[in-house]
Amino acid sequence: MLHSLLLLTISLFLAVAYASPQHQADYDNPLAIRDVVTVTSTLTATVIASTLASTLTSTTTSSTTTYATPLTQPTSWLTVTAARSGSEIHLLPMNAAGLRFWLGGNTISYCPEQVEDQYACPPGNTTVLSVCSMGVLVPGGQQIYVTPRGELGYTQAHSISMPPGAVSCPFTYTKAPGAYIGRLLMSIGAPFGITGFMACPTRSRGIYQVFGNLKNATVPLGNVSQCIGFDPLAADAPGPGAWQYT
Ligand SMILES: *[C@@H]1O[C@H](CO)[C@@H](O)[C@H](O)[C@H]1NC(C)=O
Ligand SMILES: *[C@@H]1O[C@H](CO)[C@@H](O)[C@H](O)[C@H]1NC(C)=O
Ligand SMILES: *[C@@H]1O[C@H](CO)[C@@H](O)[C@H](O)[C@H]1NC(C)=O
Repeated sequence: MLHSLLLLTISLFLAVAYASPQHQADYDNPLAIRDVVTVTSTLTATVIASTLASTLTSTTTSSTTTYATPLTQPTSWLTVTAARSGSEIHLLPMNAAGLRFWLGGNTISYCPEQVEDQYACPPGNTTVLSVCSMGVLVPGGQQIYVTPRGELGYTQAHSISMPPGAVSCPFTYTKAPGAYIGRLLMSIGAPFGITGFMACPTRSRGIYQVFGNLKNATVPLGNVSQCIGFDPLAADAPGPGAWQYT
């Protein structure tokens, strides 16, 4: 565990080093560069802190011969960031749009006018979720599912409709004792055979759709071998992210 966190820290440092070259198109826009570096260094600091925290925890537990167990339920809403060092998707946030999940692009959400008039909607520009549902205020909520084709999705507001054969609540969660960042996991047995997440390229350059890693997933460009497996880092969010995701 400690070992893998240290590796992650190193890869995050590398990501800082590579952040500027990968975003050359953003040189005209200093805000974008600063945002990338800020997000990256915040994650790095947090991962270092959680590494230290879990070291301290294991020291404490070994002296008392009781073992702190990982958290398996989130204690708050979550935002998800992809980790796959050395790839184009490394440290991209996972965004909801069009009832599907993406790396790259933007979150798309909706706030009804009468609610907006009362300033009662969350900003709606980040994607917040938990193991079963989206972090939204709309009555009835929005449920998360995975389809037999491997696509991850969520229900439209005011509807419980899912594609045929879809499985809801696809995620589980784990966070080491004392850590600040957890992980989403996805393990869905036969006939699915999903053991994790993958991001598949789309026709829009730099935008990837999120799937369960089914070997025969139906992916946007048709070739599963082009998909990239990733580790979904799950950070606590202060509250729901939108009125509803669209
Ligand atoms: C979302 O919007 C809020 C309020 O306008 C802004 O402060 C924040 O930086 C935005 N976050 C992202 C990730 O765009
Ligand atoms: C993928 O493979 C599984 C197991 O072999 C099968 O049950 C499922 O129908 C296949 N899905 C598609 C979309 O071909
Ligand atoms: C699928 O993608 C892999 C990896 O990029 C490539 O090696 C392979 O030739 C592709 N197959 C087809 C049928 O395009």
